[in-house]
Amino acid sequence: MCGIIGCVGREDDTLDVLVHGLSKLEYRGYDSAGVALSGDRVDVCKKSGKIEDLKGALEPRSIGGAAGIGHTRWSTHGPPTDANAHPHLDCTGDVAVVHNGIIENYQSLRDELVAVGHTFKSDTDTEVVPHLVEDALADGADNEAAVREAIDRLDGSYAVAVVVSGDDTIYAARNDSPLVLGIDDEDEGRPAYYLASDVPAFRDFTDRVVYLADGEFATLSADGWRVSDVDGNAVDKDVDTVDWDPEETGKSGYDHFMLKEIHEQPRAIRQCLRGRVDEMAATVDIGDLGDLSPTGVQFVACGTSYHAALYGANLLRNAGIPAQAFLASEYATSPPPIGDALVVGVTQSGETADTLSALREARKRGARTLAVTNTVGSTVARECDHELYIRAGPEIGVAASKTFASQLAALNLFTLGTTRVDGKRDIISALRDLPSNIQAILDESQAKAVAETYVDSDAYFFIGRGLQYPVALEGALKMKEITYKHAEGFAAGELKHGPLALVTEDTPVFAVVTGDGEMARKTIGNVKEVEARNAPVVAVTDGQSDVGRYVDAVLEVPETHPQAAAVLANVQLQLVSYYVADELGRSIDKPRNLAKSVTVE
Ligand code: M6R
Repeated sequence: MCGIIGCVGREDDTLDVLVHGLSKLEYRGYDSAGVALSGDRVDVCKKSGKIEDLKGALEPRSIGGAAGIGHTRWSTHGPPTDANAHPHLDCTGDVAVVHNGIIENYQSLRDELVAVGHTFKSDTDTEVVPHLVEDALADGADNEAAVREAIDRLDGSYAVAVVVSGDDTIYAARNDSPLVLGIDDEDEGRPAYYLASDVPAFRDFTDRVVYLADGEFATLSADGWRVSDVDGNAVDKDVDTVDWDPEETGKSGYDHFMLKEIHEQPRAIRQCLRGRVDEMAATVDIGDLGDLSPTGVQFVACGTSYHAALYGANLLRNAGIPAQAFLASEYATSPPPIGDALVVGVTQSGETADTLSALREARKRGARTLAVTNTVGSTVARECDHELYIRAGPEIGVAASKTFASQLAALNLFTLGTTRVDGKRDIISALRDLPSNIQAILDESQAKAVAETYVDSDAYFFIGRGLQYPVALEGALKMKEITYKHAEGFAAGELKHGPLALVTEDTPVFAVVTGDGEMARKTIGNVKEVEARNAPVVAVTDGQSDVGRYVDAVLEVPETHPQAAAVLANVQLQLVSYYVADELGRSIDKPRNLAKSVTVE
């Protein structure tokens, strides 16, 4: 998804800071990049492809200026070409703009601007913005007023940053798309200010941040920063401190961020539980959330977070609370929440447009909302009535890994903290054991060998029941997104209702079978069905059942409570997908066509 970086106040290294920021935004997924610096004139360089391509284009040029903006683009309007890359200029070349989001009325604005003589060079919706600013300047507005006038004309979602020649100021505005300021004015020496779509872009330079809200407008210059509302009135903003170590966003010796993040799961779970569970007293403290007592819960989420939501709904139903999970993009067609129901948005980034839109719909329907998110200060956290942080730390790999584990842990805390579920002590103890059990899997997993055996397969199927059904779905999503191979997850009982026709000797089936109860026995029946069709079967099992007798390979997980078993089984499946993708030489951290944070519907 598109990313924005901007900086003012750096002496001679504005360009370096922008390029560094763009490289920190790469994880969001992008297909072109560019920068604009404003001095006496506005200098722009932009290129389709990777940051390396942009650097290559910059090398022979001398490009400088006191204020700069940069962008990584993930195409929505028009293909990934140099012309469509941001920044975009007006006709005079004096106004440069970068933008995240979608301008819904761009076509009518463009028609209007073309009719009065403006020339467009790209297919993008963004390009209307510099031309609107140009018109306002031509009518005599000063730079800030001109940008405000342009912003006023836009419908849709946007985070916009603008520079104008001869002015060392960045003008910025947001609506439905995140923007955060970085403030570096405490030390001696010249202050510097930053602007970004998310904090990692400038985290190496400062940890002091100001989150912009929808409708706010910011000006940044070497003399200071100011945030104002739509009418231009100053808004008093808190300066927060982010507590991530910039090192946390490095690979720390792992080949990929994803592998690092898979290995960070023990720590992520510990962070999620810290201060929230008391094993001796068998209690959970999730603050005010403990008073929510929902009579019914609807979850809304996308992708991996939707799988966590399916798991969460299952936990609540087991605790006697009616609960359902909906794909956020389909929520508009769901039955309305009943009575005092709570609608829970599960979203790692806190910026997923589909999830935000579903939560807004829920509020319109009168529901209370809760955000289960990883991102403090994110849009979802600010818009929901309540929030529960999963505390996984920054996740750079586009494929969600540690955040899924932390979501499952947090949803356990939510269920334990808000319901009268039976067996609290056992569940808490299993949650406490999760970090060491995950570590045991990471230390001993045979997933690499399994991956090497089946790397050339035509397709991969994943089956599970109950709490292991979302794990099967997640196993398949991970496999497809990082290996580009066909993979599907099924409720184990559904295989015989159609998908069995796809099963051959070239389609390994990963069966998640934990415990030795009825669920396990039934899934073993399904394992026999695929085995009879000569499909290789890999069991992810704790060895409590005899599934090992019927399969070609076993990936072991420690024996634990069924609710924790799902987290453990998923670690094995993450590793299999990772190693298949690695064998195939895929772009694991930035899979093709995908973005970390999907801020369009
Ligand atoms: O930030 P979110 O959790 O809202 O993101 C939702 C999905 O876009 C995300 O989980 C996506 O499916 C991941 N690429 C999965 O690995």
